[in-house]
Amino acid sequence: MKVVRINCINPYDAYIARGALDDIGRLISPMLRADRIALVTDENVDGLYADKVVASLEKTYGKGCVFKFVLPAGESAKTPENYLKIINFMAESGLKRTDAAVALGGGVVGDMAGFAAATYMRGIDVVQVPTTLLAMIDSSVGGKTGVDLAAGKNLLGAFHMPKAVIIDVDTLETLARDEYLAGLGEGVKYAVIKPSLKPYFLENHADVVSFIAECISLKAEIVCRDELESGMRRLLNLGHTVGHALEKRSEYTLKHGRAVAIGIGVMTSSALRAGEISSSRANEIREMLKIAGADDNGVDLHGLERFFAMDKKADSKGVNAVVVTEDGCAIRKFSLAEFSAYIGA
Ligand SMILES: NC(=O)c1ccc[n+]([C@@H]2O[C@H](COP(=O)([O-])OP(=O)(O)OC[C@H]3O[C@@H](n4cnc5c(N)ncnc54)[C@H](O)[C@@H]3O)[C@@H](O)[C@H]2O)c1
Ligand SMILES: [Zn+2]
Repeated sequence: MKVVRINCINPYDAYIARGALDDIGRLISPMLRADRIALVTDENVDGLYADKVVASLEKTYGKGCVFKFVLPAGESAKTPENYLKIINFMAESGLKRTDAAVALGGGVVGDMAGFAAATYMRGIDVVQVPTTLLAMIDSSVGGKTGVDLAAGKNLLGAFHMPKAVIIDVDTLETLARDEYLAGLGEGVKYAVIKPSLKPYFLENHADVVSFIAECISLKAEIVCRDELESGMRRLLNLGHTVGHALEKRSEYTLKHGRAVAIGIGVMTSSALRAGEISSSRANEIREMLKIAGADDNGVDLHGLERFFAMDKKADSKGVNAVVVTEDGCAIRKFSLAEFSAYIGA
C-alpha cells in the first residue's frame, strides 16, 4: 500500500493499493466520527463494487448503517435535480452533522457526492473512492466538487476536502479501454508539468500504483500551496483551454481526458513552432500522448475562438493559458486573438 499525504490546511491521506476496497471500513474509521454512512455510487459501479464496500463498511460500522444511493451513469447525471435527490436521501436516512458520505465511482459520482456532502447540514465528511483512472489521478484529490447547470459544466460547486481517498487499483480492470486512455490523457499533464515523472509514463507505466501515487503527490503539492486556485494551481489547466473548447464544440461527445491530451498536443506544437521548446522535448511529449492514444495530428482548430471566450478561466482581457516550456510549464496571459494566433486557430 502506498500512502500519499495531502498536506493542505486540513491534511488527509490517499491510500493506494490493490484490494483496498475490502479494507475500506478499517481504513476510514479513524478519520470519521460517523454512525451512518451515505454510500453514493452509479449504476455501473453499483453492480461491480458496491456489495464489497457495503460489506467492509458494515464490518466496521455495523449492519444497517450504510445507506446506498445509486445515480444514473455518466455526465448527464450531474444535475441539480440529482443533487437534491442525494440531499433528500441523506435527510431521509437520518444522517446527522457528524455522519459521512462515501463517493464510490468516477468523477461524476465524486463531484456529486462531494457537493452533496459539502452542503448537507452545511457540510459533512466525505471519503472519495475513485474507480476510474481520471478520478484516481485528478478529481478525487484537491477538494473541487461540482454540478452542471444548463448554462455550463460545474457552474454549481464548492471546495470540500475529503477526509481520505481510497484507491483500489484492481477496480481499473473493469474500466472500458477508452475511459482508461482518457485517464492517461489527463496523466500526461503531470509528466509535462514535472518532467521527472516521465519514466512512470514511458518505462514503468505498468506500475499503476506508483504512477497514481506520483500524479497525486504532484497534484497535492500544487493544490495545497494554492488551495483556492490562483497561481500555481492554474498549471493543472495545461491542455484545458483548448481541451474544453474541443469538448464544447463536440457537444461533449469527446471525452474530457482525450480532449485534454489533444490540447496538450496543440500547446506542444505551438511552443515548438514559436521556438520555445526543442524538438526532443516535443517528441517526448508526443510519445506520452501516443501511449494515451491521442495526439493533435489533423485536429481542426478553426472556429474554436468563440469557445475560448466562454471558458470559466477567461475574462474580458483574455485567457490565462498554460504554455509548454523546455523544463515544465508556465502560465501566460493572452488576449483571445493572441491565443488563437499562438495555436494557429
Ligand atoms: N473535481 C475535480 O477536480 C474534477 C477534475 C476532473 C474531472 N472532474 C469531473 O469528473 C467527471 C469525469 O469523470 P470520469 O471520467 O471518471 O467519468 P464518469 O464518472 O462518468 O465515469 C466514466 C464511466 O465509467 C464507469 N465506471 C466507473 N468506474 C468503473 C469501473 N471501475 N469499472 C467499470 N466502469 C466504471 C462509470 O459508470 C461511467 O459510465 C466530469 O464530470 C468532470 O467534470 C472533476
Ligand atoms: Zn481535466
